Amino acid sequence: MSKTITCSAPVNIAVIKYWGKRDEELILPTNSSLSCTLSQDQLQTRTSVSFSPTYTKDRLWLNGKEEDVSKSARLRNCLSETRRLRSEYEASLEKKGNSSVAKLSQYFVHAASINNFPTAAGLASSASGYACFVFALCKLYELPISVSDMSRIARTGSGSACRSLFGGFVAWEMGQLKDGSDSQAVQIAPETHWPEIEAIILVVSDAKKATSSTSGMQTTVQTSELLQHRISEVVPRRMKEIIHAIEQKDFKAFAEITMKDSNQFHAVCLDTYPPICYLNDVSKKVIELLTAYNSGPDGIKAAYTFDAGPNAVIYAPKANIKELIQFISFYFPSPRSNPTAYFPDPLKIFQGE
Ligand code: PMV
Repeated sequence: MSKTITCSAPVNIAVIKYWGKRDEELILPTNSSLSCTLSQDQLQTRTSVSFSPTYTKDRLWLNGKEEDVSKSARLRNCLSETRRLRSEYEASLEKKGNSSVAKLSQYFVHAASINNFPTAAGLASSASGYACFVFALCKLYELPISVSDMSRIARTGSGSACRSLFGGFVAWEMGQLKDGSDSQAVQIAPETHWPEIEAIILVVSDAKKATSSTSGMQTTVQTSELLQHRISEVVPRRMKEIIHAIEQKDFKAFAEITMKDSNQFHAVCLDTYPPICYLNDVSKKVIELLTAYNSGPDGIKAAYTFDAGPNAVIYAPKANIKELIQFISFYFPSPRSNPTAYFPDPLKIFQGE
């Protein structure tokens, strides 16, 4: 008996950033966070998982290259938890008198995962990757569990992955319990709630980041004094404010909180000792340009945010997207586009003319 399941999962980009763990093993955060799940036609991971009696060990290929599952505690966390739940499920079915229960939990699993975008470059590849892996495993094992339960398992692969199990606007509630059973993702609003908002991704660099989020967070928790202020005062207030802005579809409030939170996250990185700088000169130029773009008479028209890398994600209402792309490509002409096609006067854009 063998079986294969293929799933895809989207990336999510946080507007209130998660940065810092209170429990490294269970991946419990020091603050709650909130993100938007992007549509799957943008960035996505596709993963196939299968089991077969002929497999002799668990194996996983990431973008075609085999990873050593035995060396990754995170992959093992997800595999062992889904397998444990499967074996519990098999026992419960047998108890109910079902004598032909398939003992899937005894088989090894093979998995292959592909991202359609740069991996580990600060574009949330671990979020879509672990969300997809866990969802596919749950389907393979036919587990009768909720998406929130799946989000808790995905969290033990990569924290931010718990948010990619839902579409739309998603909060990861940090929870209070030591065992992490209340640290899970919750959908604040579905993707249909605010379809006017779109995301533009500016790939500034597709190189793998020098400081992984895991080691960066560790050093921040150990050394940053600013982090204490952020997690105790700023984030709890901003979580309430941004949820209100999302509910009211108040883009200006949403955008201001998003940009401030990205800025504070990178300030906390710089406050870490030794300091971590994820932004490069191009990222800083993007911040400068968007600040100028937002300083016209119409006020805030777009929001930038940067994860642990130099790449920018810009959230803006659909109505502003064309103008924004023209504006950005004026300053960063892509070698693939025709730079002579459109030359707007940026000052006119600032002034909303
Ligand atoms: O889930 P991780 O370990 O890849 O950490 C993600 C951290 C940020 O992307 C910087 C912020 C976030 O909330 O996604």
